Amino acid sequence: MKWLFDLFWPPRPPLVADATIRDVAAIARLHGASFRRGWSDGEIEGMLLDRNVLAHRAMIGRNLAGFIISRMAADEAEILSVAVAESYRGRAIARTLLRHHLGRLAGLGIQSVFLEVDEGNVSALRLYRRAGFVEVGRRAAYYPKDG
Ligand SMILES: CC(C)(COP(=O)(O)OP(=O)(O)OC[C@H]1O[C@@H](n2cnc3c(N)ncnc32)[C@H](O)[C@@H]1OP(=O)(O)O)[C@@H](O)C(=O)NCCC(=O)NCCS
Repeated sequence: MKWLFDLFWPPRPPLVADATIRDVAAIARLHGASFRRGWSDGEIEGMLLDRNVLAHRAMIGRNLAGFIISRMAADEAEILSVAVAESYRGRAIARTLLRHHLGRLAGLGIQSVFLEVDEGNVSALRLYRRAGFVEVGRRAAYYPKDG
């Protein structure tokens, strides 16, 4: 009955903004819930203080619904992480975040954006393909299956 609920109470769109030091704990929690290897608060704080790192958050009300972080070097950037909280997935929040983030990167003079994704990560592959990313290489056994 989720569709009926959504018809009468449509989900609120996310508010996308720069991530700041105040988001460290929430990003660490969401990253830890989304990936096998979590990032410590210190690692995230270091990234957010790095002027070569660009980070955005998507808020739904007071909740961190998602984030995206990339590191820039010369005219290239690498997306280090993107995650959306499980309860908010499938609502185009990652698409909104990625579009906003790529627009900011372009505005900063970035010409090429790279990222790595597990070939079994269907939603991430769809997200990146729709945004225009193409495969440029493969790493064998990059992601451990155990642990
Ligand atoms: C990948 C992730 C960020 C996508 O977030 P999201 O907000 O649910 O994504 P969106 O709603 O914007 O949808 C993006 C695409 O994935 C598709 N998708 C979403 N959930 C899906 C699911 N469960 N199964 C298949 N496809 C799915 C959407 O249909 C959309 O594709 P489309 O534009 O071709 O229709 C989210 O699943 C996540 O945080 N996963 C764990 C962390 C992760 O794997 N990050 C990526 C590392 S490279």
